[in-house]
Amino acid sequence: QKLELELESIEKGGYPHFMLKEIFEQPRSILDSMRGRLVAENTQLTMSSIREYANRFKNAERIIIVACGTSWHAGLVAEYMIEELARIPVEVEYASEFRYRNPIIREGDIVIAISQSGETADTLAALELAKSKGALIFGVCNVVGSSIARATDAGAYTHAGPEIGVASTKAFTAQVTVLTLISMMLAEMRGTIEASALRQLMMEMEQIPSKVEKALELDAEVQVISEIFKDATNFIYLGRGFNFPVALEGALKLKEISYIHAEGYPAAEMKHGPIALIDENMPVVVIATKDSSYEKVVSNIQEVRARKGRVIAIVTEGDTVIPQMAEFVIEVPSTHEALVPLISVIPLQLLSYHIAVLRGCNVDQPRNLAKSVTVE
Ligand code: AGP
Repeated sequence: QKLELELESIEKGGYPHFMLKEIFEQPRSILDSMRGRLVAENTQLTMSSIREYANRFKNAERIIIVACGTSWHAGLVAEYMIEELARIPVEVEYASEFRYRNPIIREGDIVIAISQSGETADTLAALELAKSKGALIFGVCNVVGSSIARATDAGAYTHAGPEIGVASTKAFTAQVTVLTLISMMLAEMRGTIEASALRQLMMEMEQIPSKVEKALELDAEVQVISEIFKDATNFIYLGRGFNFPVALEGALKLKEISYIHAEGYPAAEMKHGPIALIDENMPVVVIATKDSSYEKVVSNIQEVRARKGRVIAIVTEGDTVIPQMAEFVIEVPSTHEALVPLISVIPLQLLSYHIAVLRGCNVDQPRNLAKSVTVE
């Protein structure tokens, strides 16, 4: 028993929980996931599995992404990215719904299955179904040799390293990293991006690990905010564009490990219902980084403030407008709009972690949850 405990503490590398260790590993796991695949200096993108099926990808009429939970959120980020950069229509499907609803799958379709564990039963069944209809199946998995990795025609591993905490953190950013590289390659192959724009994006991508490192310095600040909100019974998370999936991910993290009810919404959907929930007791986390929807998000913050909601805003460093409206402001480094999720998700992971610890929850093994869901 004592030996087991000592072993566990060594594995945690000095951190009190695996989740915190994994959050702090992200600069490294993101780097590992792009190492050898991206060299911005000579605009070089290497992913042999994509090159091998270059023609299929080039001519793909549609990409269908199947996944569950956090991996599904990474898929949503990819939808925004692939459509924006490579101009291929993308659909993101919950694997559990897809497999049972007799979906339309054509031979020219490409199905991307995203899974950290590579063992999620619904995702595996969804890809088997798509395979039987002749689609090309591409996997983005973390666990080498896992069932999903083996069932796919081709794939690209995320190199996040083992993820022990039930709440997925570094696997998410590794998935977004690999999917970003795929989007860039597709855009290059299809000629939907200018060479200079691609180079610029690649250079920004190379900066991401150090910017994530910087975002992790927010830990103490986020901890203070967590103290203030630890007894809340509800949370709303809002984001638009690339930050909409981040809002969903932030809400999922809080639900899983702190057992606080949380909802993520595209900010503009608020007025179609959830706004009725807002009063002086409602914490509203708004991801409001400087991007093409910034002005709109600013008005959404005003709508929340007008109903006395307590706004915690994630903003870009140097923002002078939102600090005048929000009760709490967390500043993250600026980057290319498409890459923002890799940075804006960091304070949300930390927020859920600290709130869960303060509430005395079992962070690494939350109730009712398993690391990989191998049953229906
Ligand atoms: C994430 O924090 C969850 N524990 C869960 O949603 C998870 O992402 C989902 O079960 C999918 O798992 P997979 O990536 O291993 O397929």
